[in-house]
Amino acid sequence: MNELRVFDRISDAVGWTPLVRLGPTVDDLDCAVFAKIEFLNPMGSVKDRIARYMIDKAIADGRLEAGDLVVENSSGNTAMGLAMMSVLEDLRCTMVVRRGTSKEKLDCLRAMGIDLVLVDGNLSPDDPESYNRKARVIVAENPGAFFPDQHNNRENSDAHYQTTGPEIWAQMEGRIDYLVAGIGTGGTICGVARYLKEQDSAIEVVAIDPEGSVFFDYFHSGRHGEPKPYLIEGLGDEEIIGCPDFELIDTMYRVRDGEAFRATRALARREAILAGGSSGAALWGVRKLAQQLDRPARIVTIFPDSGTRYMSTIFNNEWMKDHGFL
Ligand SMILES: Cc1ncc(COP(=O)(O)O)c(C=O)c1O
Repeated sequence: MNELRVFDRISDAVGWTPLVRLGPTVDDLDCAVFAKIEFLNPMGSVKDRIARYMIDKAIADGRLEAGDLVVENSSGNTAMGLAMMSVLEDLRCTMVVRRGTSKEKLDCLRAMGIDLVLVDGNLSPDDPESYNRKARVIVAENPGAFFPDQHNNRENSDAHYQTTGPEIWAQMEGRIDYLVAGIGTGGTICGVARYLKEQDSAIEVVAIDPEGSVFFDYFHSGRHGEPKPYLIEGLGDEEIIGCPDFELIDTMYRVRDGEAFRATRALARREAILAGGSSGAALWGVRKLAQQLDRPARIVTIFPDSGTRYMSTIFNNEWMKDHGFL
Protein backbone atom coordinates (compact mmCIF):
# COMPACT_ATOMS: atom_id res chain seq x y z
CA MET A 1 0.00 0.00 0.00
CA ASN A 2 1.08 3.53 -0.74
CA GLU A 3 1.27 4.84 2.86
CA LEU A 4 0.66 8.48 1.98
CA ARG A 5 -2.04 7.54 -0.55
CA VAL A 6 -0.73 9.82 -3.28
CA PHE A 7 -1.80 8.46 -6.67
CA ASP A 8 -1.38 9.11 -10.39
CA ARG A 9 -5.06 8.64 -11.05
CA ILE A 10 -8.28 8.08 -9.14
CA SER A 11 -8.59 4.35 -9.94
CA ASP A 12 -5.34 3.74 -8.04
CA ALA A 13 -7.24 4.79 -4.90
CA VAL A 14 -9.58 1.77 -5.19
CA GLY A 15 -9.24 -0.66 -2.28
CA TRP A 16 -7.63 -0.62 1.16
CA THR A 17 -10.89 0.59 2.60
CA PRO A 18 -11.16 0.80 6.41
CA LEU A 19 -12.49 -1.95 8.62
CA VAL A 20 -14.64 -0.56 11.44
CA ARG A 21 -15.74 -2.35 14.59
CA LEU A 22 -19.49 -1.98 15.10
CA GLY A 23 -20.81 -0.75 18.44
CA PRO A 24 -24.41 0.01 19.43
CA THR A 25 -26.08 -2.04 16.66
CA VAL A 26 -24.45 -5.24 17.92
CA ASP A 27 -23.49 -4.60 21.54
CA ASP A 28 -26.30 -6.82 22.85
CA LEU A 29 -24.58 -9.76 21.12
CA ASP A 30 -21.63 -11.76 22.37
CA CYS A 31 -19.64 -11.11 19.19
CA ALA A 32 -17.04 -8.70 17.83
CA VAL A 33 -18.30 -7.45 14.47
CA PHE A 34 -16.12 -5.65 11.93
CA ALA A 35 -17.45 -4.02 8.76
CA LYS A 36 -15.43 -3.30 5.62
CA ILE A 37 -16.53 0.17 4.53
CA GLU A 38 -16.61 -0.20 0.77
CA PHE A 39 -18.44 3.06 0.08
CA LEU A 40 -15.10 4.78 0.68
CA ASN A 41 -13.91 3.60 -2.73
CA PRO A 42 -13.66 6.47 -5.29
CA MET A 43 -17.02 5.89 -7.00
CA GLY A 44 -18.66 4.96 -3.72
CA SER A 45 -18.92 1.18 -3.84
CA VAL A 46 -17.27 -2.22 -3.66
CA LYS A 47 -17.81 -2.60 -7.40
CA ASP A 48 -14.96 -0.20 -8.20
CA ARG A 49 -12.73 -3.16 -7.47
CA ILE A 50 -14.10 -5.38 -10.23
CA ALA A 51 -14.31 -2.50 -12.71
CA ARG A 52 -10.64 -1.67 -12.24
CA TYR A 53 -9.56 -5.32 -12.23
CA MET A 54 -11.52 -6.40 -15.31
CA ILE A 55 -10.73 -3.33 -17.40
CA ASP A 56 -7.02 -3.33 -16.49
CA LYS A 57 -6.82 -7.05 -17.31
CA ALA A 58 -8.61 -6.68 -20.64
CA ILE A 59 -6.29 -3.82 -21.64
CA ALA A 60 -3.18 -5.76 -20.55
CA ASP A 61 -4.37 -8.84 -22.53
CA GLY A 62 -5.01 -6.74 -25.64
CA ARG A 63 -8.78 -7.42 -25.55
CA LEU A 64 -9.62 -3.75 -25.05
CA GLU A 65 -8.19 -0.45 -26.27
CA ALA A 66 -9.01 3.25 -26.32
CA GLY A 67 -12.13 4.01 -28.32
CA ASP A 68 -13.73 0.59 -27.70
CA LEU A 69 -17.26 0.20 -26.36
CA VAL A 70 -17.85 -1.35 -22.91
CA VAL A 71 -21.33 -2.81 -22.28
CA GLU A 72 -22.61 -4.20 -18.97
CA ASN A 73 -25.82 -4.69 -17.00
CA SER A 74 -25.57 -3.35 -13.49
CA SER A 75 -27.65 -2.42 -10.47
CA GLY A 76 -25.76 0.88 -10.78
CA ASN A 77 -22.56 0.44 -8.82
CA THR A 78 -20.58 -1.63 -11.34
CA ALA A 79 -21.75 0.89 -13.91
CA MET A 80 -20.19 3.68 -11.82
CA GLY A 81 -16.90 1.79 -11.58
CA LEU A 82 -16.90 1.10 -15.32
CA ALA A 83 -17.76 4.75 -15.96
CA MET A 84 -14.64 5.73 -13.98
CA MET A 85 -12.47 3.33 -15.97
CA SER A 86 -14.04 4.45 -19.26
CA VAL A 87 -13.24 8.10 -18.56
CA LEU A 88 -9.66 7.25 -17.62
CA GLU A 89 -9.05 4.84 -20.50
CA ASP A 90 -10.97 6.77 -23.16
CA LEU A 91 -13.55 4.03 -23.65
CA ARG A 92 -17.17 4.39 -24.67
CA CYS A 93 -19.57 3.07 -22.04
CA THR A 94 -23.15 1.79 -22.42
CA MET A 95 -24.76 0.55 -19.22
CA VAL A 96 -28.04 -1.36 -18.90
CA VAL A 97 -29.75 -0.41 -15.64
CA ARG A 98 -33.21 -1.20 -14.26
CA ARG A 99 -35.65 1.71 -14.46
CA GLY A 100 -36.48 1.34 -10.72
CA THR A 101 -32.86 1.98 -9.70
CA SER A 102 -32.58 4.84 -7.19
CA LYS A 103 -32.69 8.32 -8.72
CA GLU A 104 -29.39 9.17 -7.01
CA LYS A 105 -27.59 6.33 -8.78
CA LEU A 106 -29.07 7.28 -12.15
CA ASP A 107 -28.05 10.92 -11.58
CA CYS A 108 -24.48 9.85 -10.72
CA LEU A 109 -24.27 7.74 -13.88
CA ARG A 110 -25.51 10.63 -16.00
CA ALA A 111 -22.97 12.91 -14.30
CA MET A 112 -20.21 10.54 -15.47
CA GLY A 113 -21.38 11.04 -19.05
CA ILE A 114 -22.11 7.44 -19.95
CA ASP A 115 -24.83 6.11 -22.22
CA LEU A 116 -27.67 4.68 -20.05
CA VAL A 117 -30.14 2.09 -21.30
CA LEU A 118 -33.06 1.82 -18.85
CA VAL A 119 -34.99 -1.46 -18.83
CA ASP A 120 -38.14 -2.67 -17.11
CA GLY A 121 -36.96 -4.67 -14.10
CA ASN A 122 -40.16 -6.76 -14.08
CA LEU A 123 -39.59 -8.44 -17.45
CA SER A 124 -38.84 -12.17 -17.47
CA PRO A 125 -35.10 -12.88 -17.68
CA ASP A 126 -35.75 -14.59 -21.07
CA ASP A 127 -37.12 -11.40 -22.60
CA PRO A 128 -34.55 -9.76 -24.94
CA GLU A 129 -35.47 -6.39 -23.43
CA SER A 130 -34.88 -7.61 -19.83
CA TYR A 131 -32.09 -6.61 -17.47
CA ASN A 132 -30.55 -10.07 -17.86
CA ARG A 133 -30.58 -10.11 -21.69
CA LYS A 134 -30.41 -6.55 -23.01
CA ALA A 135 -26.63 -6.13 -22.57
CA ARG A 136 -26.05 -9.25 -24.70
CA VAL A 137 -28.35 -7.86 -27.39
CA ILE A 138 -26.35 -4.60 -27.46
CA VAL A 139 -23.06 -6.53 -27.60
CA ALA A 140 -24.36 -8.60 -30.54
CA GLU A 141 -25.33 -5.39 -32.36
CA ASN A 142 -21.85 -3.87 -31.76
CA PRO A 143 -19.16 -6.29 -32.95
CA GLY A 144 -15.98 -5.85 -30.92
CA ALA A 145 -17.83 -4.47 -27.89
CA PHE A 146 -16.33 -5.55 -24.56
CA PHE A 147 -18.75 -7.25 -22.15
CA PRO A 148 -17.25 -7.79 -18.66
CA ASP A 149 -20.33 -9.96 -17.87
CA GLN A 150 -19.97 -9.60 -14.09
CA HIS A 151 -22.83 -12.07 -13.50
CA ASN A 152 -21.09 -14.97 -15.23
CA ASN A 153 -17.41 -14.08 -15.37
CA ARG A 154 -15.29 -15.42 -12.51
CA GLU A 155 -12.79 -12.59 -13.06
CA ASN A 156 -15.33 -10.71 -10.94
CA SER A 157 -14.65 -12.93 -7.92
CA ASP A 158 -10.91 -13.03 -8.79
CA ALA A 159 -10.85 -9.26 -8.18
CA HIS A 160 -12.01 -9.86 -4.61
CA TYR A 161 -9.73 -12.87 -4.18
CA GLN A 162 -6.82 -10.60 -5.12
CA THR A 163 -7.82 -7.52 -3.13
CA THR A 164 -10.76 -7.58 -0.67
CA GLY A 165 -9.89 -11.02 0.76
CA PRO A 166 -6.22 -10.28 1.54
CA GLU A 167 -7.12 -6.84 2.95
CA ILE A 168 -9.66 -8.37 5.35
CA TRP A 169 -7.24 -11.13 6.38
CA ALA A 170 -4.54 -8.55 7.15
CA GLN A 171 -6.89 -6.12 8.91
CA MET A 172 -8.38 -8.90 11.07
CA GLU A 173 -4.88 -10.23 11.78
CA GLY A 174 -6.10 -13.65 10.71
CA ARG A 175 -8.62 -13.96 13.54
CA ILE A 176 -11.97 -14.53 11.84
CA ASP A 177 -14.76 -16.99 12.65
CA TYR A 178 -17.45 -15.89 10.16
CA LEU A 179 -17.82 -13.86 7.00
CA VAL A 180 -21.34 -12.50 6.45
CA ALA A 181 -22.08 -10.73 3.16
CA GLY A 182 -24.84 -10.14 0.65
CA ILE A 183 -24.87 -12.05 -2.62
CA GLY A 184 -25.58 -10.24 -5.89
CA THR A 185 -23.30 -11.46 -8.64
CA GLY A 186 -21.57 -13.42 -5.85
CA GLY A 187 -18.23 -11.90 -6.82
CA THR A 188 -17.59 -10.26 -3.47
CA ILE A 189 -18.63 -13.06 -1.14
CA CYS A 190 -17.12 -15.89 -3.19
CA GLY A 191 -13.82 -14.13 -3.95
CA VAL A 192 -13.36 -13.16 -0.30
CA ALA A 193 -14.53 -16.59 0.92
CA ARG A 194 -12.10 -18.41 -1.35
CA TYR A 195 -9.17 -16.36 -0.06
CA LEU A 196 -10.17 -16.58 3.62
CA LYS A 197 -10.89 -20.33 3.52
CA GLU A 198 -7.49 -20.93 1.94
CA GLN A 199 -5.92 -19.19 4.96
CA ASP A 200 -8.18 -20.85 7.56
CA SER A 201 -10.58 -23.58 6.47
CA ALA A 202 -12.59 -23.21 9.71
CA ILE A 203 -13.97 -19.81 8.63
CA GLU A 204 -17.69 -20.11 7.85
CA VAL A 205 -19.41 -18.05 5.20
CA VAL A 206 -22.99 -16.79 5.44
CA ALA A 207 -24.67 -15.27 2.37
CA ILE A 208 -27.67 -12.93 2.54
CA ASP A 209 -30.20 -13.13 -0.29
CA PRO A 210 -33.35 -10.98 -0.61
CA GLU A 211 -36.80 -12.56 -0.48
CA GLY A 212 -37.88 -12.77 -4.14
CA SER A 213 -34.44 -13.74 -5.48
CA VAL A 214 -33.88 -17.30 -6.73
CA PHE A 215 -30.57 -18.01 -4.94
CA PHE A 216 -32.02 -19.06 -1.57
CA ASP A 217 -34.11 -21.96 -2.92
CA TYR A 218 -31.34 -23.01 -5.27
CA PHE A 219 -28.81 -23.07 -2.44
CA HIS A 220 -31.04 -25.06 -0.09
CA SER A 221 -32.78 -27.45 -2.49
CA GLY A 222 -31.23 -27.11 -5.95
CA ARG A 223 -34.63 -25.84 -7.16
CA HIS A 224 -35.02 -22.79 -9.42
CA GLY A 225 -38.01 -21.03 -7.83
CA GLU A 226 -40.15 -18.26 -9.32
CA PRO A 227 -38.50 -14.83 -8.90
CA LYS A 228 -40.64 -12.12 -7.31
CA PRO A 229 -40.09 -8.35 -7.17
CA TYR A 230 -38.11 -6.90 -4.27
CA LEU A 231 -36.55 -3.52 -3.54
CA ILE A 232 -33.07 -4.16 -2.13
CA GLU A 233 -30.66 -3.01 -4.85
CA GLY A 234 -27.57 -5.03 -5.72
CA LEU A 235 -28.50 -8.34 -4.10
CA GLY A 236 -30.16 -11.46 -5.50
CA ASP A 237 -31.16 -12.29 -9.06
CA GLU A 238 -34.08 -13.49 -11.19
CA GLU A 239 -32.05 -16.44 -12.47
CA ILE A 240 -29.09 -18.62 -11.50
CA ILE A 241 -25.92 -17.07 -12.85
CA GLY A 242 -22.39 -18.37 -13.40
CA CYS A 243 -20.27 -16.14 -11.17
CA PRO A 244 -21.15 -17.46 -7.71
CA ASP A 245 -19.44 -20.65 -6.54
CA PHE A 246 -22.11 -21.89 -4.15
CA GLU A 247 -19.68 -24.50 -2.75
CA LEU A 248 -17.90 -21.67 -0.91
CA ILE A 249 -21.07 -20.68 0.98
CA ASP A 250 -21.89 -22.57 4.19
CA THR A 251 -25.23 -20.97 5.04
CA MET A 252 -27.68 -18.67 3.29
CA TYR A 253 -30.30 -16.46 4.96
CA ARG A 254 -33.24 -14.77 3.27
CA VAL A 255 -33.88 -11.14 4.21
CA ARG A 256 -37.03 -9.10 3.64
CA ASP A 257 -36.79 -5.57 2.21
CA GLY A 258 -38.18 -3.99 5.39
CA GLU A 259 -35.74 -5.86 7.66
CA ALA A 260 -32.78 -4.73 5.55
CA PHE A 261 -33.98 -1.13 5.30
CA ARG A 262 -34.69 -0.73 9.02
CA ALA A 263 -31.21 -2.09 9.78
CA THR A 264 -29.78 0.37 7.22
CA ARG A 265 -31.41 3.27 9.05
CA ALA A 266 -30.15 1.95 12.41
CA LEU A 267 -26.61 1.94 11.02
CA ALA A 268 -26.88 5.64 10.22
CA ARG A 269 -28.58 6.69 13.47
CA ARG A 270 -26.62 4.47 15.87
CA GLU A 271 -23.19 3.96 14.25
CA ALA A 272 -22.99 7.08 12.04
CA ILE A 273 -22.38 4.70 9.13
CA LEU A 274 -24.47 6.05 6.26
CA ALA A 275 -24.62 2.95 4.09
CA GLY A 276 -26.99 1.44 1.51
CA GLY A 277 -29.69 -1.22 1.76
CA SER A 278 -27.40 -4.19 1.14
CA SER A 279 -25.31 -3.06 4.13
CA GLY A 280 -28.44 -3.15 6.26
CA ALA A 281 -29.13 -6.63 4.88
CA ALA A 282 -25.63 -7.66 5.94
CA LEU A 283 -26.12 -6.22 9.44
CA TRP A 284 -29.44 -8.06 9.72
CA GLY A 285 -27.60 -11.27 8.74
CA VAL A 286 -24.85 -10.66 11.28
CA ARG A 287 -27.45 -10.25 14.04
CA LYS A 288 -29.35 -13.37 12.98
CA LEU A 289 -26.15 -15.40 12.98
CA ALA A 290 -24.92 -14.02 16.31
CA GLN A 291 -28.25 -14.76 18.00
CA GLN A 292 -27.86 -18.42 17.05
CA LEU A 293 -24.29 -18.84 18.30
CA ASP A 294 -23.55 -20.31 21.70
CA ARG A 295 -20.02 -18.91 21.97
CA PRO A 296 -18.34 -15.53 21.33
CA ALA A 297 -17.24 -15.06 17.72
CA ARG A 298 -15.39 -12.63 15.50
CA ILE A 299 -17.55 -11.76 12.52
CA VAL A 300 -16.51 -9.73 9.49
CA THR A 301 -19.02 -8.20 7.13
CA ILE A 302 -19.00 -5.97 4.06
CA PHE A 303 -20.90 -2.72 3.57
CA PRO A 304 -20.98 -2.34 -0.24
CA ASP A 305 -22.25 1.19 -0.91
CA SER A 306 -23.33 4.52 0.54
CA GLY A 307 -26.63 5.67 1.96
CA THR A 308 -26.36 8.85 -0.09
CA ARG A 309 -27.51 6.70 -3.05
CA TYR A 310 -30.82 5.99 -1.27
CA MET A 311 -32.00 9.37 0.08
CA SER A 312 -35.14 9.17 -2.08
CA THR A 313 -35.92 5.63 -0.90
CA ILE A 314 -34.57 4.02 2.30
CA PHE A 315 -33.92 7.35 4.03
CA ASN A 316 -37.18 8.91 2.89
CA ASN A 317 -39.91 8.47 5.53
CA GLU A 318 -42.76 8.81 3.02
CA TRP A 319 -41.28 6.16 0.72
CA MET A 320 -40.70 3.84 3.68
CA LYS A 321 -44.27 4.35 4.93
CA ASP A 322 -45.78 3.94 1.44
CA HIS A 323 -44.10 0.54 1.20
CA GLY A 324 -45.18 -0.48 4.70
CA PHE A 325 -41.63 -0.57 6.07
CA LEU A 326 -42.20 1.97 8.85
C1 LIG B 1 -25.26 -2.12 -3.29
C2 LIG B 1 -24.72 -3.47 -3.60
N1 LIG B 1 -24.62 -4.35 -2.62
C3 LIG B 1 -24.16 -5.59 -2.83
C4 LIG B 1 -23.79 -6.01 -4.09
C5 LIG B 1 -23.38 -7.44 -4.26
O1 LIG B 1 -22.08 -7.64 -4.60
P1 LIG B 1 -21.72 -8.83 -5.55
O2 LIG B 1 -22.28 -8.51 -6.90
O3 LIG B 1 -20.24 -8.85 -5.58
O4 LIG B 1 -22.32 -10.08 -5.00
C6 LIG B 1 -23.90 -5.12 -5.14
C7 LIG B 1 -23.59 -5.52 -6.50
O5 LIG B 1 -23.93 -4.88 -7.46
C8 LIG B 1 -24.36 -3.81 -4.90
O6 LIG B 1 -24.50 -2.91 -5.88
